[in-house]
Amino acid sequence: MNIGIIGSGGREHSLCFKLKESKIVDKIYCFPGNAGTEKIAQNVNIETKNFEEIKKECLKKNIELLVVGPEQPLVDGIVEYFNDTKIKVFGPNKISAQLEGSKTFTKKLCKKFNIPTSNFEIFKDEKSALNYLSNKKYPLVIKADGLAAGKGVYISKNENEGKNAIKEIFGGRFGKADCVLVEEFLLGEEMSYFIVSDGINYKFFQTAQDHKRVGENDTGKNTGGMGAYSPSRLYNFELDKKINEKIIKPTLEGIKELGSNYCGFLYVGLMIVDNEPYLIEFNVRMGDPECQTILPLLDTDLGEIILACCEKKLLNLEIKWKNKKSICIVLCSNGYPDKYEKNANIDQIRNIILDNDEYIFHAGTKIEGNIYLATGGRVLNIVAITDEFSNSKDKTIKILETLNWEKGFYRKDIGYKVIGV
Ligand code: AMP
Ligand code: GLY
Repeated sequence: MNIGIIGSGGREHSLCFKLKESKIVDKIYCFPGNAGTEKIAQNVNIETKNFEEIKKECLKKNIELLVVGPEQPLVDGIVEYFNDTKIKVFGPNKISAQLEGSKTFTKKLCKKFNIPTSNFEIFKDEKSALNYLSNKKYPLVIKADGLAAGKGVYISKNENEGKNAIKEIFGGRFGKADCVLVEEFLLGEEMSYFIVSDGINYKFFQTAQDHKRVGENDTGKNTGGMGAYSPSRLYNFELDKKINEKIIKPTLEGIKELGSNYCGFLYVGLMIVDNEPYLIEFNVRMGDPECQTILPLLDTDLGEIILACCEKKLLNLEIKWKNKKSICIVLCSNGYPDKYEKNANIDQIRNIILDNDEYIFHAGTKIEGNIYLATGGRVLNIVAITDEFSNSKDKTIKILETLNWEKGFYRKDIGYKVIGV
């Protein structure tokens, strides 16, 4: 069958790469894709928010299945938008997508089902939020409610920083703010846990740890993600059981009570404190760069998994994983996550010859006049899988050194918690 993929990042290139290997897939179209997807699929230059044009193209190109990479189209209801067609859309509907789209929705669900998460308060106006801040224990975590592209979360070390955060959020820094969340700071180690669900049953879809800060040793500004490793070093059987019983099952039950069901990937962002899981956030999609890190470990046909979800037949499909260790390092443009040069030449990517189990997934790239250009802050994802994290990392670093891109940088310590420094 013909498949469409929505999105243009590293996550979408890795999905495209895996779907290309699938025996059920004929042609792949990416809306709009990047230079990496252009090499293995056909890019269609339509923005992800333009549902009307995407629908027209899908019908024209006989696309039977649409895989949605990023959260925004899901939160905006792309699944419902295709209800009047026969096209299957892989991803949660608008009701379920609130798990990412609204932090207050998720926190209320946590309260109702006793799901472990940090203690929190929700404030609808600036004054009451500001009043709350005095005589509190710091740090406190202050969050804008809606989607904020990975921003919108402040870890405030004192009352002054807290006030500033609340003023910025209500001042409209992340769009119109109806409320703000103030929550307790959890001290632990983060883990990203993934499942894939068909609305009735769900299956484990690996773990990873990403590095969100721009600087070595997890310092500096937050980014979309500078790299990741998989599986997470925190993963164990007992923890897995707790995550499923205390967090995932009640959440899916909560969605059912709303008269809906959850189809798609679910990203469970956790803080692990003494082998106890606490929910930090849900994302209604794969992580980026976790997806690029995890998919090379997948040993089952991704097309079959996704189709089984759309047809509610996941129960009998076994999802197999390679017993290997994956590292992904993100090559960024100098200046990221602040200002960076656009359309910088990165044509030396042509010189890279990859070994087995080495991958380059493009993020912000395009081809213009037959030359590769870097268009985004995050440009390439370099991934290797081997039997040891340290070997995987050596391989990724070697590729980055060969590439030797003078206009970019990368973190050399990805996976330090599992490898050491
Ligand atoms: P979020 O967008 O909710 O995932 O938050 C972004 C990042 O802020 C998370 O990945 C954590 O590193 C941090 N964070 C969020 N909530 C908390 C919390 N309650 N305690 C400690 N760190 C947090
Ligand atoms: N890597 C974090 C995210 O995808 O939200």
